[in-house]
Amino acid sequence: KKPQDRRYKQFWLDLSSRPQLFDFHGVGMIPIFTANWENVQNFQARPDDIVIATYPKAGTTWVSQILDLLYFGKTSPERLTSLPIYERVPFLEMTIPNLVSGKDQADKLPTTPRLIKTHFPVQFVPKSFWEQNCRMIYVARNAKDNMVSYYHFDLMNNAQPVAGDWNSYFQRFMEGDMVFGPWYDHVNGWWKKKQTHSNIHYMFYEDMIEDTGREIEKLCSFIGLSPSAEEKEMIKTGVQFDNMKKNKMTNYSTLPVMDFQVSPFMRKGKVGDWKNYFTVAQNEEFDEDYKRKMKDPTLHFRCEL
Ligand code: A3P
Repeated sequence: KKPQDRRYKQFWLDLSSRPQLFDFHGVGMIPIFTANWENVQNFQARPDDIVIATYPKAGTTWVSQILDLLYFGKTSPERLTSLPIYERVPFLEMTIPNLVSGKDQADKLPTTPRLIKTHFPVQFVPKSFWEQNCRMIYVARNAKDNMVSYYHFDLMNNAQPVAGDWNSYFQRFMEGDMVFGPWYDHVNGWWKKKQTHSNIHYMFYEDMIEDTGREIEKLCSFIGLSPSAEEKEMIKTGVQFDNMKKNKMTNYSTLPVMDFQVSPFMRKGKVGDWKNYFTVAQNEEFDEDYKRKMKDPTLHFRCEL
């Protein structure tokens, strides 16, 4: 192991307390996502860079693996079996000062195209990506399942603020006091941007669950790839939930900051798991509040299939 890997591991093990959420330009953030702000904002994009943008827990890893397989599965399969997903697809704004920076990792990516992950709300995206007219793939997931998934993630990830109990988390999600801000603003902001920026492909987690092959097909026409039927079949199998859960290079088991005893990263991968957490009263309260916040009739989510 490289000394950097050891220091990285130690950083997470030394984390004695959870970070505090603070307001950053109107968005809830924690230091690991703002410490490198200037450099991230000055990121120099290339026209063929591909941005994978999501609200946390919407299916980032799933789409990242699909794209990595589509582009490099045939030409450099060893990449996929030797590097964890977070090294193949750097997380742009993630920074541990003097140790790792997603921005530097992205700068150094040897691949063409470079696949770059971000959880930024649309207004935080570095301007170079727009200037270079880069393709962007946004994945959105219905708010209820997104909340439940984020709750488990905040329970198990020691780099995230304290999750608290379910009832308080439920309130906090509706209030938007979350890392990367309110879900509502995030999905709407990107949806609105798509109306004026044709290089955004907006996908839904529920559509991917319903028909992964169809969604891979749509993704291919957006990025202009035409894999063979056989290749598509291999990718579809490779990215099935159970296979990605078993795969050390996609299941995050290599990141010491996550406590899999509390909850695995690849948790359930379902639509409708919220029903196991929302009480009837919470569901009513949530729906009322949702109607007030989600006014755009063209942006529609499915909470069950
Ligand atoms: P759950 O917690 O509901 O299981 P992200 O990658 O954005 O952090 O999203 C993680 C969520 O996507 C988790 O949801 C995870 O299980 C789910 N996920 C990851 N890979 C998946 C796959 N191949 N099929 C279905 N769901 C997947």
